[in-house]
Amino acid sequence: MATPSVSQLARRLEGKVALITGGASGIGECTAKLFAKHGAKVVIADIQDDLANSVIETIGPSNSTFVHCDVTDEEHIKNAVDTAISKYGKLDIMFNNAGIADAAKPQIMDNQKDDFERVLSINVVGVFLGMKHAARVMVPARTGTIISTSSAASGLAGAATHAYTCSKHAVVGLTKNLAIELGQFGIRVNCISPHGVATPMVTKFFGADEEAVEEFMGSKAPLKGVVLKVEDIANAALFLASDEAKYVSGQNLFIDGAVTICNSGFKMF
Ligand SMILES: NC(=O)c1ccc[n+]([C@@H]2O[C@H](COP(=O)([O-])OP(=O)(O)OC[C@H]3O[C@@H](n4cnc5c(N)ncnc54)[C@H](O)[C@@H]3O)[C@@H](O)[C@H]2O)c1
Repeated sequence: MATPSVSQLARRLEGKVALITGGASGIGECTAKLFAKHGAKVVIADIQDDLANSVIETIGPSNSTFVHCDVTDEEHIKNAVDTAISKYGKLDIMFNNAGIADAAKPQIMDNQKDDFERVLSINVVGVFLGMKHAARVMVPARTGTIISTSSAASGLAGAATHAYTCSKHAVVGLTKNLAIELGQFGIRVNCISPHGVATPMVTKFFGADEEAVEEFMGSKAPLKGVVLKVEDIANAALFLASDEAKYVSGQNLFIDGAVTICNSGFKMF
């Protein structure tokens, strides 16, 4: 078996084309920058035009493009995928990462149908549309990898709202189902489930600064002495996107310091 050279390891996505939804901020922004550093051409699809354009400025307009895209609108997703093809000739990596959290309401009776549907529309329908249109161009090419951002809430009850928890379980279901369908075409489908990390989505949810969020999340995870950063999630996406993960499909990769396997009610250790 050929051992990868150091230069191959240094630029693990050389020549690949990636589309990242929610790439203007947080996990998506960090992943866009990391993918570009590893040699990928990156298309950012987001609704925050100014933020996205500043990410493009940082990456460099010769390696990246912004497409205004609301992931709940099929025409927008279709256009984002078609832009990747027209600008860079192909789509190797689809990262369905855009997502939102709804306000915490402790009782289901206080949860409104509109709020529930809004979360599912972005977090689930948005991922479904991203998968569908990535498949549209990847199946004829007989290659590609699809990654979606789920959450530790896919493996943990009672840690997030009903809508959010439900939406992130659904991302895992979609991932597994599609891994079976698209495996026959050589296309890998996986998702990533991070524990809480201090992005604008989470600082807004808690109404707290980054440090307070990190301290709170760190206190819940069995793994101590390290703080979860967006870079850690981007690195997991990089692994799944790269050829190093060529036999990894249908997986939900938890980046969670073991929080989802621990029931803190048991205090043996
Ligand atoms: N931060 C965490 O603790 C955490 C943990 C687990 C999972 N996640 C998931 O990670 C993903 C990224 O979130 P983040 O924490 O980086 O938050 P973020 O708010 O920093 O980034 C989310 C991005 O998605 C974009 N977006 C929102 N609605 C959109 C829409 N309709 N169409 C296109 N883009 C849209 C936003 O404009 C933003 O740029 C989400 O799916 C989130 O659920 C986050």
